[in-house]
Amino acid sequence: MTYARIAGIGSFLPEKVVTNQDLEKIMDTSDEWIRERTGIKRRHIAADNETTSSMGLIAAERAMQMAGVGPDDIDLIIVGTATPDKAFPATACTIQRQLGVRGCPAFDLSAACTGFVYGLDVANRFIVSGGARTAIVIGAETLSRIVDWEDRGTAVLFGDGAGAVVLKADEEAGILATHIHADGEYEELLHVGPGVSAVTGTAGDYIKMEGNAVFRRAVATFDNIARETIADVDGHLDDIDWFVPHQANMRIIKAAAKKLKMPMERVIATVDEQANTSAASIPLALDLAIRDGRIQRGQTLLLAAFGAGFTWGSAMLKY
Ligand code: ACO
Repeated sequence: MTYARIAGIGSFLPEKVVTNQDLEKIMDTSDEWIRERTGIKRRHIAADNETTSSMGLIAAERAMQMAGVGPDDIDLIIVGTATPDKAFPATACTIQRQLGVRGCPAFDLSAACTGFVYGLDVANRFIVSGGARTAIVIGAETLSRIVDWEDRGTAVLFGDGAGAVVLKADEEAGILATHIHADGEYEELLHVGPGVSAVTGTAGDYIKMEGNAVFRRAVATFDNIARETIADVDGHLDDIDWFVPHQANMRIIKAAAKKLKMPMERVIATVDEQANTSAASIPLALDLAIRDGRIQRGQTLLLAAFGAGFTWGSAMLKY
């Protein structure tokens, strides 16, 4: 049997850090409120010359270096992002050119905070079916460009960054199961206007969110999708060495872990240092925990994400 296995991982965070104290100076908020309600202390914000493609490129290069693969080995590139450089070409094509990769399919995938898990699901299907042997899946976002810096209800929550994995076809177990879902009924609870075809949004329109409703839905959904994927492999929660959830809010992560009876010692959390980087948050968290030695080869990971759409998904894999 052929599995898609993580052969390398990389990430990138902009150098500029904005702390809660910095935000106190530009809006009516406090470090105490932000930490208590979200667990966030600081976030990285892209410089003017940093883009989703420039950050995704560096993350991909680092992942390729760890995997020991070159441009000629790559036969699929997927970028999960809600903040592409341009409407077209796809940010994946921009990164493909800069990596020196030619000819393979490269496309963006729009599933908001679930973008990376959607990308893993799609790349896994390519690899298992023989359509690709080596794929790069990137989650990259410059959310700071669509945040209303005058809206304290949303501005404090988000950050920028990118993470990437190289997946290789392998006989040794890698991705064991993935599940992705969407329900477009909830658009009004979390959306951002500027687009191309709908004129409801105008330039300068920003993220709008009903925080409470999103919070409740996110907690319930994390539990359901985690159990769905574990059941699919006839597994058990005790089989999971590390739970790596989308990093939206520490309270959401803790509530989801509690429902799953997963001790926080087995949960990777980066939201305190990086805030919510949407599609980038899971690969950023994975990269940190793999490089600092917490996640070891052979361990079993459960990834779960929830985001605008609503979209949600999970993946269970052997690292
Ligand atoms: N600083 C100080 N006060 C604030 C701030 C702020 N930054 N933001 C809101 N407040 C005030 C509100 O105005 C309100 O004041 P009032 O009682 O006088 O009216 C009070 O704090 C409480 O506001 P709530 O919105 O009820 O606060 P809540 O406890 O729900 O926390 C939060 C808000 C953090 C947004 C929470 O609802 C949340 O995390 N929701 C999840 C949303 C999320 O993470 N979305 C990301 C995208 S989706 C995803 O990734 C899962």
